[in-house]
Amino acid sequence: MAVVLCLLLIFALMAPSLDGQILGGPMHGKAVVCYVASWAAYRPNDGQFTLDNLQPALCTHLVYSFAGLNETTFTIKSLDPWQDLEKDYGKAGYKRIVALKERYPHLKVTIAIGGWNEGSERYSKMASSPETRKTFINSVMIFLNQYKFDGLDLDWEYPSKRGGKPDDKANYVSLVKELKEAFEPKSLILTAALGAGKETMESAYDLSKLSRYLDLIHMMCYDYHGTWDGVVGPNAPLRGLDNEDVLSVEYTVKYMISQGVSPYKLVLGLPMYGRTFVLNDASTKRLQFGVTPVESAGFKGPYTREAGFMGYNEICAEVSNKSSPWEYHWHEGSATAYLRDGARVISYDDPRAIAAKVKFAVDNNLGGLMVWSIDTDDFRGHCGIDDRTFKDFTDRYNRMVNDPLLQEALKTLKLGDEARNLHRGTAYSLTDGRLELRLPQPQLSNYQLMQTVNAATTLALEEKRILDEMSRVNRDNEIVQTLSGCSRPERSLALVSLLIYKLFF
Ligand SMILES: *[C@@H]1O[C@H](CO)[C@@H](O)[C@H](O)[C@H]1NC(C)=O
Ligand SMILES: *[C@@H]1O[C@H](CO)[C@@H](O)[C@H](O)[C@H]1NC(C)=O
Repeated sequence: MAVVLCLLLIFALMAPSLDGQILGGPMHGKAVVCYVASWAAYRPNDGQFTLDNLQPALCTHLVYSFAGLNETTFTIKSLDPWQDLEKDYGKAGYKRIVALKERYPHLKVTIAIGGWNEGSERYSKMASSPETRKTFINSVMIFLNQYKFDGLDLDWEYPSKRGGKPDDKANYVSLVKELKEAFEPKSLILTAALGAGKETMESAYDLSKLSRYLDLIHMMCYDYHGTWDGVVGPNAPLRGLDNEDVLSVEYTVKYMISQGVSPYKLVLGLPMYGRTFVLNDASTKRLQFGVTPVESAGFKGPYTREAGFMGYNEICAEVSNKSSPWEYHWHEGSATAYLRDGARVISYDDPRAIAAKVKFAVDNNLGGLMVWSIDTDDFRGHCGIDDRTFKDFTDRYNRMVNDPLLQEALKTLKLGDEARNLHRGTAYSLTDGRLELRLPQPQLSNYQLMQTVNAATTLALEEKRILDEMSRVNRDNEIVQTLSGCSRPERSLALVSLLIYKLFF
């Protein structure tokens, strides 16, 4: 009896401590930056998202969106005091999001200023003189200290555009440089969200200078196409529709790197939403991105209620309906998904599209992934599991598993055996000398896209390690083959040079 009582007592004592336990975040080492739209709290029914719905273990950074700029005083301000602040029985959003760090010490929590609705003009004025910049920066320092944010994310959309002026490009660099100088002694984080269109990248940003002062650069790699094109198109194509097409994730990232941006500072933005279209002609047999004409406005989702836009959670609700009229398609060229029901089309990132972009980010050694925005992921868990999620990873595995180069690479790779790797959550392991791929299993029944971001990051990093070793083996084999055509002294000389080269580079 005493034992039972003791056990009960222990359980009773454990219950609150389990509740208040310290929880971890992503283990793969890449940044996972999650924007949180504070206005998602006003969405109806299952679309309503508050901080209680957030799962902070899925992210390394949270960015509370948005604060604004007072255009007369040039100081940072809350755009929704009731939602953001505590006074007058407000919802205390700032305090609550920062408080998540107590249970999730891995988290960095910053606040974004700007966004589309704030426009560009007031930022242009603020950035135009050293005095107004100083006023702004002082207000930011007070604000961050008051609410205990870890830093600021600049979302000026966009310097030199939408009512801005040509000087904005240089003034933006000054603003970022001076902010960084104020932040550095306090170890505050300075990041920015940048537009991904070619024209915006060229006219708004001095990229190599921005890369010097910003800690992370969040590339808004979405909204490449929408009803404004007059034709149907992918919201966020990984690859362009033809070789000349500059509206793609691939072009954006290559361009940024070519301009001197450090890859490890680049964070690839992923949309947790799609773009909707209404075809001019519902009877169109073959739908073609970039060709098939559409009406001037797309349709709305039931929660976000914005024409031409649909959250992944809303798309999910449509698709998971058993009597759903939607037909799923995969567009290989752009590596994106779309749904069609007669005249209605939704182009969007399904888990497979997200996994393809994560692989691209990892292959290009980027700093990580960003999502806009976590509140339109399937946070209620209505989607279920998508069998297509890791299709491309399995296809690549099946192609490489019988490659003789892989057998050679496995000798030097030192992959662990399955039992040990299972424990560490590793996807690839060695079993009886053979490479095995064990797909990551969902840890949660909701947040399908966010879980895909993290699982695909682990998969892509491990896959890259294997593929890199295979190409190293391949290079060495080629050298040996080339050398077999040489005379003995030539060969010795070449081998010694190679050895010296390998030692020093
Ligand atoms: C800007 O700040 C001033 C001074 O605090 C205040 O009187 C004014 O109402 C603010 N304007 C806006 C639009 O918030
Ligand atoms: C499912 O789709 C059918 C056909 O479009 C519709 O009538 C029904 O209301 C939908 N059910 C739900 C739960 O949305």
